[in-house]
Amino acid sequence: MIQEQVGGDLVELELVNPYPGNYQAIVAQVARENDSGFLPPLKTKVDISKYDLIFLGFPTWGMKLPPPMKSFLNENDLSGKTVIPFNTNAGYGVGSSFDQVKKLCPNSVILKGFSIKGGIERDGILFVMEGEKEKQAKEEVRKWLNELSF
Ligand SMILES: Cc1cc2nc3c(=O)[nH]c(=O)nc-3n(C[C@H](O)[C@H](O)[C@H](O)COP(=O)(O)O)c2cc1C
Repeated sequence: MIQEQVGGDLVELELVNPYPGNYQAIVAQVARENDSGFLPPLKTKVDISKYDLIFLGFPTWGMKLPPPMKSFLNENDLSGKTVIPFNTNAGYGVGSSFDQVKKLCPNSVILKGFSIKGGIERDGILFVMEGEKEKQAKEEVRKWLNELSF
């Protein structure tokens, strides 16, 4: 939705070792990774020098920034760039994830982020951006981007 309005390249972060599909298993693995500070290796490589403006999208995981996003910010120096975080969650908000982005991008300009309720993996609800929900999400995204002067 953001890209429809702003343009730009879309990049999906993929891991060398994908997370398990089982919800309880992934929750447990992510908790262990957060405790130990483990940064899961990324299969996706980005030539970040090509970009001045980066929308950084992620779900809330354990009320934190997902470890793969920490890997991405550890591998890629976003100094001097503008970073705009956006988030989906299952209804509990962004937790500390936006603050973590600020800490991991100390030399970037961070603009106002956006957050919206998405699927609820815990309950097997994997895709919700359709019908009325899609329309409502598009409208919220449009308002936020307009505020940011896009
Ligand atoms: C490992 C894991 C941890 C999660 N922790 C949270 C959480 O702490 N708070 C929350 O609101 N949602 C949590 N969720 C739910 C996801 O944030 C939610 O399903 C996701 O944002 C849906 O995004 P989508 O609609 O773009 O697929 C968690 C999901 C997973 C897989």
